[in-house]
Amino acid sequence: MQDNLWIKDKICLVTGASSGIGLATSWQLAKLGATVVMIARDDDRGRAAKLKVLDKSGNQNVHVFLVDFASLPQIRGLAKKFQAKFPALHVLINNAAVIPLNRQTSEDGYELQFAVNHLAPFLLTNLLLPLMKASQPARIINVSSSVHHSGRINFDDLQSKRRYHPNHVYANTKLANVLFTTQLAKMLLGSGVTANCLHPGVIDTKLYKNYMGTVRPAGADDDELERGAATTVYLASSGEVANISGKYFAYQQERQPSSTSQNEDLAQRLWQVSAKLVGL
Ligand SMILES: NC(=O)c1ccc[n+]([C@@H]2O[C@H](COP(=O)([O-])OP(=O)(O)OC[C@H]3O[C@@H](n4cnc5c(N)ncnc54)[C@H](OP(=O)(O)O)[C@@H]3O)[C@@H](O)[C@H]2O)c1
Repeated sequence: MQDNLWIKDKICLVTGASSGIGLATSWQLAKLGATVVMIARDDDRGRAAKLKVLDKSGNQNVHVFLVDFASLPQIRGLAKKFQAKFPALHVLINNAAVIPLNRQTSEDGYELQFAVNHLAPFLLTNLLLPLMKASQPARIINVSSSVHHSGRINFDDLQSKRRYHPNHVYANTKLANVLFTTQLAKMLLGSGVTANCLHPGVIDTKLYKNYMGTVRPAGADDDELERGAATTVYLASSGEVANISGKYFAYQQERQPSSTSQNEDLAQRLWQVSAKLVGL
């Protein structure tokens, strides 16, 4: 018997669903019979992504919301709109991320990677937590990266004003994703909501292209994107991980995250600072 039947008819929200791993995650979940709510920031890319998911899955329960994660008010708007339209949220997949080659800022004045890769999923998750608790069992999945091993959280320069190196800042935000998972899982103990994070593998997407500093278009085909989505889909759907929380996975297996990412004081401090920055 298949181990992923749990996901059928469940409501899933996938961020960064307009391309790459998030798009493949969306069509895989739709294929498994889930209702999939895709978040995109661009109307044309959002429409094209939805058509692809409909085509690949044959599942009509696919929706797109347009939200720019570089805007905290838009994230608050998404949480409101989502709760007005859907009665439950069983799986939240925080997947969107960006690596601008030069330092940029969000609408709220925060460094763009810190805003999109960390503050956006932090705020969205917190706003949707009451609904997820009411929908339990439910799962939160944070897409991090193996590069979190080289990340550090510099509270004196969280906005990278003094120094901006795109890949270093990216690694810091991916460490923030694991620290967020560590603290979230601790706070969710006994709630019926789990929180895990993962490294998806190395896949030739738009983001990977920026990480490598190349200008050619992203080259991954659908099979490669599905490989990139496999661990996310596993964490979203498999019965094997139903009661596992606070862990880091890669290639559909639990892996050892960095020791920094498991530092509870650091995780708690980052949580408190982030809550202040997003106005929670
Ligand atoms: N590819 C890899 O080798 C690799 C390795 C380790 C970890 N990861 C992680 O995998 C996840 C998915 O990345 P990917 O490789 O699939 O890259 P991708 O194809 O570039 O996808 C990133 C997604 O995030 C969205 N996004 C970026 N900025 C946004 C904003 N301001 N508001 C809303 N959405 C925004 C993008 O939307 P647009 O389409 O509008 O740009 C896109 O849908 C990321 O968390 C990344 O850190 C990837």
